[in-house]
Amino acid sequence: IPVDPFDYVVFGGNGDLAERKLLPALYHRDHDGQMPQDSRIIGASRTHISDEEYRAFAREAIAKHVKPEDTHTTSVERFVSRLHYRQVDARADEGWDELKAFLEGVEDGNGTRVRAFYLAVGPALFADLACRIGEKGLVDANTRLVVEKPVGRDLESARELNDIIGRYFTEDQVFRIDHYLGKETVQNLMALRFANALYEPIWNSAHIDHVQITVAESVGLEGRAGYYDKAGALRDMVQNHILQLMCLVALEPPPTLDADALRDEKLKVLRALTPIDASNVESRTVRGQYKAGASDGAAVRSYLDDLGEAQSDTETFVAIKAEIGNWRWAGVPFYLRTGKRLSERMSEIVVTFRPIPHSIFAGLSGSIQQNQLVMRLQPNEGVKQWLMIKDPGPGGMRLRHVPLDMSFAESFRVRNPDAYERLLMDVIRGNQTLFMRRDEVEAAWNWIDPIPQAWAEKSMKPQGYTAGTWGPSSGVALIERDGRTWHEPD
Ligand code: BG6
Repeated sequence: IPVDPFDYVVFGGNGDLAERKLLPALYHRDHDGQMPQDSRIIGASRTHISDEEYRAFAREAIAKHVKPEDTHTTSVERFVSRLHYRQVDARADEGWDELKAFLEGVEDGNGTRVRAFYLAVGPALFADLACRIGEKGLVDANTRLVVEKPVGRDLESARELNDIIGRYFTEDQVFRIDHYLGKETVQNLMALRFANALYEPIWNSAHIDHVQITVAESVGLEGRAGYYDKAGALRDMVQNHILQLMCLVALEPPPTLDADALRDEKLKVLRALTPIDASNVESRTVRGQYKAGASDGAAVRSYLDDLGEAQSDTETFVAIKAEIGNWRWAGVPFYLRTGKRLSERMSEIVVTFRPIPHSIFAGLSGSIQQNQLVMRLQPNEGVKQWLMIKDPGPGGMRLRHVPLDMSFAESFRVRNPDAYERLLMDVIRGNQTLFMRRDEVEAAWNWIDPIPQAWAEKSMKPQGYTAGTWGPSSGVALIERDGRTWHEPD
């Protein structure tokens, strides 16, 4: 869908997220012809940088993070010519008048041009920036605010931040980003469920045995000690990405893809989550922290060594047995797990259907396995529906478990866009479907908050696991106790 010229102001414009994700994503959109001629991208931060230096920074970011076959000098140069840089202090008045003058200095700069402010900065600055943007008179009807995660570190701080943002922006101007919602497979989940007649009638506890959601990473702390050690895997990954995935698996069919129709249904799922507190936290959750080991063939340090501290109770792995208390899902466990320094980078959603009620194949070779729908987010994005079939050949009836394979790269032969590409342009289009509404974020915290409280009450410290494994053995026991196993990635 074509859009009108816009201004994207990226606070933290010379930071890590801008370098790795935002500039490469915006470049791709421009390269694909989606950016109107007069659109501008304005990097902003406290650092003093000239426009030219900022363009050099962007050229390097593109060289580093975009595949060579997608970079052409002409499109890189066209893209960097849109870039500008303004020095602005989030906590002082410096630079704001200049930024305002610059934004208003175009013909349509007084109210008609879409203007997006992206807060790609540490969460400590979210409130300051939102206030200054508001107080400096930079918000009009066409202004949007993009807020990165984390939105708060618990329900109370999330409410505080949302209140502050709400003083200057209406809810339909606020885009709380969860980049997992921009991933291809996540959107494919919506297509699978609601563009096919096949799945929805069996998408419930009568036919589904359990669901697994794994978001495994091989990376460690990656120099984010300040943030991560205060957050831990539960707040960093479960409160947002994993719960969002779970919502999309579990939600009732929304009447349309309209942002509020979808978010209303996600909210109902979050509110229906069975509480985990001191009464059940020991049987429902597992915490881990990585020890020294090996990752991608190289020796790696422990979390504590990465952190440079002698002691920390922060979890780098968490596994949870969650349940949704409603008619559709009662009795269907959702096993969730995520961790750093695990065996490999691998994220998937696995829906396992119930066993067949009666086998007519008794005595024949090949055991009958439960049907599974495996949605792979990364790497090798795609969907596999595992089914039992007859092994071909005249050798009699032998059964085999095989996948109907809809792997993205092989079936479509197109570049798999990064999640941010889609989301950054949805902001410009004003489409909030893939962004989190205030009440959703707060409902997620409301379910999460009692978990760390219960860990403290029960003195549940993280268990050590060797880097490069699948986490502590208790993570395996969590599912095996129920007679099930984690899906082995193929
Ligand atoms: C971020 C987390 O939101 O997601 C990081 O803060 C994590 O800790 C990252 O590494 C994972 O994103 P992706 O897209 O690489 O799976």
